[in-house]
Amino acid sequence: MANIILVGFMASGKSHVGQILSQRTGMPLVDADSVIVERAGKSIEQIFADDGEAAFRSLERQVIAELFGQSGQIISAGGGAFVDPDNRREMLEGGTVFCLQARPETIYHRLKADDESGQAVRPLLAGPDPLGRIRELLAQRAQAYGQAHHCIDTDELTPEDVAERVRAVLCPEGG
Ligand code: S3P
Repeated sequence: MANIILVGFMASGKSHVGQILSQRTGMPLVDADSVIVERAGKSIEQIFADDGEAAFRSLERQVIAELFGQSGQIISAGGGAFVDPDNRREMLEGGTVFCLQARPETIYHRLKADDESGQAVRPLLAGPDPLGRIRELLAQRAQAYGQAHHCIDTDELTPEDVAERVRAVLCPEGG
């Protein structure tokens, strides 16, 4: 069975949707960022702080290449992974790619909620105007994200709804 790949901007719901899909399908969920953290022995924030974004991207490329040696997985990748042309080719050939999309304001509110609950800090949004930076990065990435096999607007959907949409695309007969 081919891989199911979830891409999209930070806080678009990839990890949560991946968990629900994994429970529903029995397919294992692999979170590329978690593999990177394990491999580096430190958090994403710390990799950016100690080694810089280029080092993070290089590790991300290695991990993505390794993950796509296998099939039958649900793979959730960090928001920048699909922007890299090599990663993108690997993903598009290695399974069905779903891009979870959301408006900048939705992303901003979800990230704030994550922050308050102590979840992942996003180094790329650490500056004084995170909403402006979200808009800027989304504009830079729109063309890459648009190349996913399927795009789902998540603004008005719960993660359960999004998982259901993914399932409906993969099994249109409801099987
Ligand atoms: C990034 C997104 C993050 C993480 C890193 C860079 C990005 O993952 O990979 O901070 O470039 O958009 P999430 O999308 O899971 O937050």
